[in-house]
Amino acid sequence: MSADLIADRRVALPTAADTAALGQEIGARLRPGDLVVLAGPLGAGKTCLAAGVGEGLGVEGPVTSPTFVIAREHPPLPAALGGRGVVLVHVDAYRLGVGTAVTPDPREVAAQLDDLDLDTDLTRAAVVIEWGEGVAEHLAAEHLLVRLDRSSTAEDREAHLHGPARLVASGP
Ligand SMILES: Nc1ncnc2c1ncn2[C@@H]1O[C@H](COP(=O)(O)OP(=O)(O)O)[C@@H](O)[C@H]1O
Ligand SMILES: [Mg+2]
Repeated sequence: MSADLIADRRVALPTAADTAALGQEIGARLRPGDLVVLAGPLGAGKTCLAAGVGEGLGVEGPVTSPTFVIAREHPPLPAALGGRGVVLVHVDAYRLGVGTAVTPDPREVAAQLDDLDLDTDLTRAAVVIEWGEGVAEHLAAEHLLVRLDRSSTAEDREAHLHGPARLVASGP
């Protein structure tokens, strides 16, 4: 895993369905221990992409915005329904104050992420963390960063992927 080359890719996301499809593509590639960091402003499509990851990985849904909790664990579906035995841990660091008017100390957020007290061992799960840039990278040796950008026209969006080539690649 650490021998992976780092790659970059830009993907145009005209519609929410395109964002979900990109998430699905990423989810299908994820292996236990993988970390996906989602960046981008409110409404950029981070949760939409996370839901796609859940579908591609084959976990129980729905993957929605974790309004009252910081993290939610989605168990794998049965193999017959596309599950691959990997739990999805979906984290939203917005609940820890990242992205809000008074941005907390990144070290404090990182410490809170270490204290989530999940049932799942993160080395055996795939972790997707919204608002994770600058606070969650330490959770794994390497990570895929997906930055979602919204232009002035609401429907004109794109993703910038940066990370291990096996997670970025557009091919199979
Ligand atoms: N190209 C697009 N990609 C993602 N979401 C889009 C797109 N176009 C419109 N939307 C809408 O924008 C909203 C994005 O919300 P969400 O995924 O919750 O954003 P975030 O988690 O980044 O705050 C959804 O209501 C979605 O339907
Ligand atoms: Mg969200």
